[in-house]
Amino acid sequence: MTQKPLKKMIKLQNIIDMPDGNLFIAEAERHVPFPVRRVYFMTHLANPNAIRGKHAHRRLCQAIFAVNGSFELLLDNGVRSEKVRVDNPSRGVLLSPMLWHTMSKFSYDCVILVLADDYYDESDYIRDYRTFRSITGRKRSS
Ligand code: TYD
Repeated sequence: MTQKPLKKMIKLQNIIDMPDGNLFIAEAERHVPFPVRRVYFMTHLANPNAIRGKHAHRRLCQAIFAVNGSFELLLDNGVRSEKVRVDNPSRGVLLSPMLWHTMSKFSYDCVILVLADDYYDESDYIRDYRTFRSITGRKRSS
């Protein structure tokens, strides 16, 4: 049986206007499949050994992009995991609810952009992997 990939890509509109620059466009509920309530970005990812993320969200939907440089994204649904090299500003990855994710192996020039469908809410985070596994296990057996 073939398994559905955990990686779901999002494609932004882009207008390549070199050497005068590239334009990338994300319209909510068009290119990005949800209404966007929050935008955050990460810069100065200078520690090559840094590992960010290490959590899942109960309800939040997000889309993550490397608007510059690249990083490795690990996706885990509690049963299997997939690694994705994120390195193209016009190709984001959908972070659906209940998907454990970690970001690592940042290039020196990496800038990460995240679009989220809701405001920050710490109670939506699952930060403990064993708790995540127990919830995903329960869902599968019910
Ligand atoms: P966290 O989501 O754990 O970062 P990452 O997944 O990139 O490793 O957030 C780090 C800290 O920042 C944590 O204390 C929560 C806080 N934070 C906010 O206050 N608002 C936000 O929108 C985000 C994303 C984080």
